[in-house]
Amino acid sequence: MSLLVLEALFCFAFIPLSHSADSLIESTCQQTPYYDFCIYTLQSDPRSSTMDLPGLACVAGNGLNDTATDNLDLVSGLLGSTNNASLDKALKVCIGSYNTIIKVDVPGAIEAAQRNNPNLGIDYTRDAAKQVDTSNTLIETTCEKTPFVDLCISTLKSDPRSSTADVAGLAIIAADSAYAKANSTSNQIAALLKSATDPKLIKALNSCIDSYNSILRVDLPVAILAIDKGTPKVAVERATDAENEAQKCEDSVTSSPISGSSKAVHDLCGILQSIASLLL
Ligand SMILES: *[C@@H]1O[C@H](CO)[C@@H](O)[C@H](O)[C@H]1NC(C)=O
Ligand SMILES: *[C@@H]1O[C@H](CO)[C@@H](O)[C@H](O)[C@H]1NC(C)=O
Ligand SMILES: *[C@@H]1O[C@H](CO)[C@@H](O)[C@H](O)[C@H]1NC(C)=O
Repeated sequence: MSLLVLEALFCFAFIPLSHSADSLIESTCQQTPYYDFCIYTLQSDPRSSTMDLPGLACVAGNGLNDTATDNLDLVSGLLGSTNNASLDKALKVCIGSYNTIIKVDVPGAIEAAQRNNPNLGIDYTRDAAKQVDTSNTLIETTCEKTPFVDLCISTLKSDPRSSTADVAGLAIIAADSAYAKANSTSNQIAALLKSATDPKLIKALNSCIDSYNSILRVDLPVAILAIDKGTPKVAVERATDAENEAQKCEDSVTSSPISGSSKAVHDLCGILQSIASLLL
């Protein structure tokens, strides 16, 4: 049986010709997160013009199936041509994901659409989206184990390296972010010190300078080196020390202009500490 016949068997819901298919496609795609891509996918399949809503869901499912099949071919081809073990591992995860999409999610979603069982269709398509989103899943499951989940997720996602990183890679990103924030906070403290006249504030800022010197010169560089070398225990110790130093500064400068960035440094070091602990 040819593929076309097979697909035609899957998408069998027709609407009366009097109905305007274009307006149905239009109004349907308006309710999806990717309007242009939705229009493109549905209009590039001639069957769309005769479909009702479950039929359109089915056409979209076939489009997803075709794309997932192409990607599976691509990834399978790459797998045979690399001798990089970490890339191989990532490719095998992708192959597993695309196989689930093609063999379980897409047929399940298409069948659910045909049977007018939208909830089931939604479950299958959510699973398909989750399968290609394994990097986001790693970020989320990792960040859920830290004390500042939202800051962790936004920090890791804003670094492009996170899309291919393993847990050690995520720890490095957290350390780099903590370093950049500590560096800018330290610059802020130095600037504030230049114009400060209140002896109490001057004393507090000087003590902050000491804290940030140990964060920037010892704690974070050593933590980064330790993650690279696979000695996470050292990274956890250094991150804990950095967190304490940042807290010490924060306690002495409450309600000063740097207390916000000082808290951010403290929280990022806490995130680093938790992620490095996952490597123990
Ligand atoms: C192996 O692949 C990973 C992930 O794509 C990459 O970061 C790393 O640099 C590669 N290693 C070598 C030796 O090419
Ligand atoms: C998905 O694509 C594959 C390969 O082209 C095909 O064998 C399979 O029947 C398709 N499945 C659906 C549900 O359309
Ligand atoms: C740290 O701050 C200095 C400014 O004093 C800047 O030149 C440098 O690029 C910063 N380094 C990092 C890693 O952010």
